[in-house]
Amino acid sequence: KPTQLIDRFGRAVTYLRISITDRCDFRCVYCMAEDMTFLPRQQILSLEEIYTLAKAFTELGVTKIRITGGEPLIRKGALTLLQQLGSMSGLHELVLTTNGSQLETMAVALRQAGVKRLNISLDTLDADKFKAITRTGDLHQVLRGITAAQAAGFERIKLNAVILKNRNHQEVVELVQFAVDLGIDISFIEEMPLGVVDQHNRSEAYYSSDMIQADLAEKFSLLASTEKTGGPSQYFKVAGTQSRVGFISPHSNNFCSTCNRVRLTVEGRLLLCLGNEHSVDLKNLLRAKPNDTVALKQAIVDAMRIKPEKHEFNIHEQPVILRYMNMTGG
Ligand code: GTP
Ligand code: 5AD
Ligand code: SF4
Repeated sequence: KPTQLIDRFGRAVTYLRISITDRCDFRCVYCMAEDMTFLPRQQILSLEEIYTLAKAFTELGVTKIRITGGEPLIRKGALTLLQQLGSMSGLHELVLTTNGSQLETMAVALRQAGVKRLNISLDTLDADKFKAITRTGDLHQVLRGITAAQAAGFERIKLNAVILKNRNHQEVVELVQFAVDLGIDISFIEEMPLGVVDQHNRSEAYYSSDMIQADLAEKFSLLASTEKTGGPSQYFKVAGTQSRVGFISPHSNNFCSTCNRVRLTVEGRLLLCLGNEHSVDLKNLLRAKPNDTVALKQAIVDAMRIKPEKHEFNIHEQPVILRYMNMTGG
């Protein structure tokens, strides 16, 4: 069944990213300020509301849902929600993005719930740098989580590394080698200017995908691949290995023309583009008319008309988007 979600530029929306909590046990320097205030309970969607919305999107033609946050696995009831989504008909792919801190204990249950693929953030293999970047995270806990995830048998595990000049750019070869040794994938992400962060200058920290690719070329042979996961990564196969290296390059290689996704923020706003504020408040609609799925679906279909053509991120200027990544699903 083709999707009913088509925007003004003819892009078909089949992928929904849902941030189920703005909270996180880490404070990554590019994602949050050190001192963050989180939303009060009544302002965020309940798990029942998230399920209702996910179902409406799926009935309209969404086939892939990614659960994100904040750190999704620290929300109470996250596993129950994933189990419910995992058995929802019409949804072909239930996937999760996590910082890995809870995987040691949750990986098996996540796989059983029907989560197919996992994206795990890992910016460095150096424990001190890890602490400096995440401010509260523990590298070894995440590494144990990755081991547990591998044992749990996900279809595919991808590491995500946001590369920052002079913080972890020296480590790209080691990170790829780590992924290759485990037989998993890794994507490198150019930092996006969302929210005002402290202790970290985004312009100075910019390290482009081209520079990473040049660094990797000294050790690996990367073969261009046409493979797509439905996300923004441009993939390369690492010759002679099981692994793929992806590049998410919002600054150096705009991927908006093939955008197939929208986001549901933790507050129940349907956000049409990560780099713009165009949105529709679905929470109020849902709370005003809890049983009116026709009105809800119509609002979602109508929202496609305001999906912007592209983001206008500029890493060298003060961020225009004051919302942090944790609100919208990092
Ligand atoms: P798969 O391809 O399904 O593995 O997922 P993905 O790489 O799209 O998802 P993931 O959650 O791992 O996100 C990796 C990075 O890509 C994060 O920093 C996301 O915010 C970013 N990203 C995902 N979709 C978009 C998008 O539409 N626009 C922009 N600018 N960034 C995006
Ligand atoms: N720019 C780019 N990536 C970011 N992430 C969080 N904040 C930002 C940002 N400002 C990343 C996380 C995680 C992924 C889902 O999003 O590191 O890997
Ligand atoms: Fe938490 Fe992810 Fe943001 Fe880091 S990037 S603070 S792990 S939500």
